[in-house]
Amino acid sequence: MSEETHKAETARLDLPEKAVELPVLHGTMGPDVVDIRRLYADGGVFTFDPGFTSTASCESKITFIDGDRGILLYRGYPIEQLAEKSHHLEVAYLLLYGDLPTAAELEDFEERITRHTMVHEQMHYFYRGFRRDAHPMAIMVGVVGAMSAFYQDSTDINDPEQREIASFRMIAKIPTIAAMAYKYSIGQPFIYPRNDLDYASNFLRMCFAVPAEDYEVDPIIARALDRIFLLHADHEQNASTSTVRLAGSSGANPFACIAAGIACLWGPAHGGANEAALNMLREIGTVDRIPEYIRRAKDKSDPFRLMGFGHRVYKNFDPRAKVLKKSADEVLGLLGIENNPTLQVAKELERIALEDDYFIEKKLYPNVDFYSGIILEALGFPTSMFTPIFALSRTVGWIAQWKEMISDPTQKIGRPRQLYTGPTPRDYVDIEYRS
Ligand code: CMC
Repeated sequence: MSEETHKAETARLDLPEKAVELPVLHGTMGPDVVDIRRLYADGGVFTFDPGFTSTASCESKITFIDGDRGILLYRGYPIEQLAEKSHHLEVAYLLLYGDLPTAAELEDFEERITRHTMVHEQMHYFYRGFRRDAHPMAIMVGVVGAMSAFYQDSTDINDPEQREIASFRMIAKIPTIAAMAYKYSIGQPFIYPRNDLDYASNFLRMCFAVPAEDYEVDPIIARALDRIFLLHADHEQNASTSTVRLAGSSGANPFACIAAGIACLWGPAHGGANEAALNMLREIGTVDRIPEYIRRAKDKSDPFRLMGFGHRVYKNFDPRAKVLKKSADEVLGLLGIENNPTLQVAKELERIALEDDYFIEKKLYPNVDFYSGIILEALGFPTSMFTPIFALSRTVGWIAQWKEMISDPTQKIGRPRQLYTGPTPRDYVDIEYRS
């Protein structure tokens, strides 16, 4: 815990048997936190917070979110400024090292990343073990976890140099790994990375070029994709990042930790929402069917939810969605595909939901996954690639958070407790006496 978090104030908790004084800590921004680390030792009770809605799980200097005001800062810089002026690899440097790089630092960083873009040739055979119809996320979880078998010389978490190399390897190779998962799923040969291309252009080419015909990267499309990467790069202690930290807290190697993050991201309540949102738009099919789905979303007895709407933290608007909405309009205009039926349903659904009392009252706005899905659809990615692209983008955030955790002297294995409501002790019953 750093010096600046300490505050002389305390909070008093009156328990039936005794009162406990708890220190109140404050950060540079955001609500104060009550430090309950000694609560069990001093008061003999646990706290209960399923879903961690009121729990700060760690101290971090990387990303700040104010959900009520729609603020997202990476190392203090507003996301809107970064989306307009920066690019993914510069933001990656910022997230990893805390400050924007100088021109020389950026050049060196980009060169180091670029030099690691190829994957071990033997990994090609590893891919071939998957069924052709495997979901690319299933392949990503497996391949990233398997990196610890291919790159054993960067798995010692106690060696800062190995941690650095593992970080470069993952940031550099994750586009190659995602593109290979896509190519494998459509039965096309893998396309090797090209080091003269920028991060987003290289990924586009590895996805869409074939040996018989190269793919000319449109800079406007590359810029739109890079913006998606940048906007998804980090999001403080979300479910997948917390998973990475929890996995890492046991001392697991970085490749295994990032694989755990990818697994968590896959769920439809998290990164899987972009795929689920597009599938939902396709299922709705035509604008006249939207009211039926709005009705279902409001019906308590129907588990259906409007995918791509709502957020645990943002209760007014998602600043990333605001940037991507503009980007989506630009991309659709550029590609001249405003008449695509799925995209028409998306636009109309957005309009209706934003005017509907239920969604207004519950503060359910289109989130980042709603618009990223629309853009990725327009760029020609199949829906199954949407979440792998989110994973690719978030890799740098996961790594920055993992590195921060490893070098935090107060870091301990993550080990929550529980409110036990199962049976009290009872004697074993021999099988012939059980009813
Ligand atoms: N459609 C219809 N109703 C909804 C929706 C939705 N998408 N989201 C929340 N609600 C309702 C929900 O039924 C509940 O109503 P009530 O108070 O009457 O019980 C209320 O709004 C609060 O919902 P909650 O589930 O308690 O809220 P949460 O903060 O736990 O969940 C969420 C946040 C993002 C999981 C949820 O809004 C959701 O499932 N959205 C759809 C999936 C999605 O788009 N996820 C991507 C999130 S952004 C990117 C990322 O994190 O990866």
